[in-house]
Amino acid sequence: MAERLRVGIAGAGFAARFHLKGYQRVYGVPIEVVGVTSKTAASREAFAREVGCQAFSTFDELCDHCDVVDVCAPGFLHEHLAVAALTRGRHVIVEKPFTGYYGPEGQANERFRGNTFPKEEMLRQALASCSRMLEAARKSGKQIGYAENWVYAPAIQKERDILIKTGGQILWLIGDGSHSGSHSPYYGIWRFSGGGAIVGKGCHPLTAALYLKRVEGQSRDGQPIRPATVSARTHEITRLKGFRDAGFLRTAYEDIEDYGQAHVTFSDGTVADIFASELVLGGVHNWLEVFANNHRTRCNLNPINSLETYNPREELFRDIYVIEKIGAKQGWSQPAPDEDWQHGYPQEFQDFAESFWQDREPLAGGELARDSVAVLYSAYVSAERRGAEVALALDRQP
Ligand SMILES: NC(=O)c1ccc[n+]([C@@H]2O[C@H](COP(=O)([O-])OP(=O)(O)OC[C@H]3O[C@@H](n4cnc5c(N)ncnc54)[C@H](O)[C@@H]3O)[C@@H](O)[C@H]2O)c1
Repeated sequence: MAERLRVGIAGAGFAARFHLKGYQRVYGVPIEVVGVTSKTAASREAFAREVGCQAFSTFDELCDHCDVVDVCAPGFLHEHLAVAALTRGRHVIVEKPFTGYYGPEGQANERFRGNTFPKEEMLRQALASCSRMLEAARKSGKQIGYAENWVYAPAIQKERDILIKTGGQILWLIGDGSHSGSHSPYYGIWRFSGGGAIVGKGCHPLTAALYLKRVEGQSRDGQPIRPATVSARTHEITRLKGFRDAGFLRTAYEDIEDYGQAHVTFSDGTVADIFASELVLGGVHNWLEVFANNHRTRCNLNPINSLETYNPREELFRDIYVIEKIGAKQGWSQPAPDEDWQHGYPQEFQDFAESFWQDREPLAGGELARDSVAVLYSAYVSAERRGAEVALALDRQP
């Protein structure tokens, strides 16, 4: 067995930074971030200096020096980087969205507009991309960790425990992943992000819902319960002619939706309703409620009320982190005592480290990732048809 797990990170932005903090909290597995690569020398060198690791100018060099490649680059690069790493015999971690459709010639095609492009073709290509990634993992015998942190959030894991120990049947889930708009310059342009609110934010409550229904089926019958159909709507609210911009929401979106909702049915006939938007002020709005035949749970990821603070003057809290995307800090707020923990990040990296070390599949692996992509892109097909139900083709080879 190797002496330690050497991690190389592709990307040096927002996600790379919270992944780094996740690795720093792993216990019981010797794991170390040894290198980083990114688009610009300045960003990777600054990141490497902060961490005390090496900055590599190419992805190949990064791969040469690590056992695990952590893909923290924009979505349009996920398949390419993950397949390259797996082919070289590295375990990979892939951020959300796992993969998707980014235009006929990738990001080079500047005339591509995702919101008007035929969605059946997008779905077909996105599923083909998933198959190539899963096939590369199968061939290499290495693991894929799908970095869907909601699966690892303590609230979702507690519900998992309740579900298994009470033998509950989930009848209906409803959840939301929303805030006032992503900070990344890549977000808002379909050829980089692979979609808007549905893909970028809806993926979180959706994947947590898919995960819990899998757990229910596996614990009762030894078989996961998987999604069967989806009906969805999407809207571009901040680009409406009549939208009145008060200056609090991000609005610079090129060709993505800023509101989406998806109604999912599962193979056992039960349902989930997922909402996602870029229209929510007051901090991130991340929750999933579970209505079961024998219990009801509201999983609050953020905000949570373990702290309730009154701040009489905005500037008093200048150096206080409250919660992600809070905006104003004056008045009552619910500062997160440990936001990373409540979002599931340390738990996620603990599971990835153990699964790579022990060579077992992580809780959030390739099949869950592929089901999420299938629902998300089928939701776009449905939205193109103004909400008509679309049957999922989960096991159909593209
Ligand atoms: N799980 C979550 O809650 C969460 C939150 C934010 C972002 N994300 C995901 O993380 C990924 C990155 O998003 P971000 O917010 O960090 O974006 P970002 O814009 O902050 O950073 C992107 C990084 O990728 C680098 N990059 C671009 N091209 C590259 C290439 N060819 N090779 C290597 N690196 C390259 C850029 O230089 C930059 O450092 C996205 O898939 C996003 O959806 C997940």
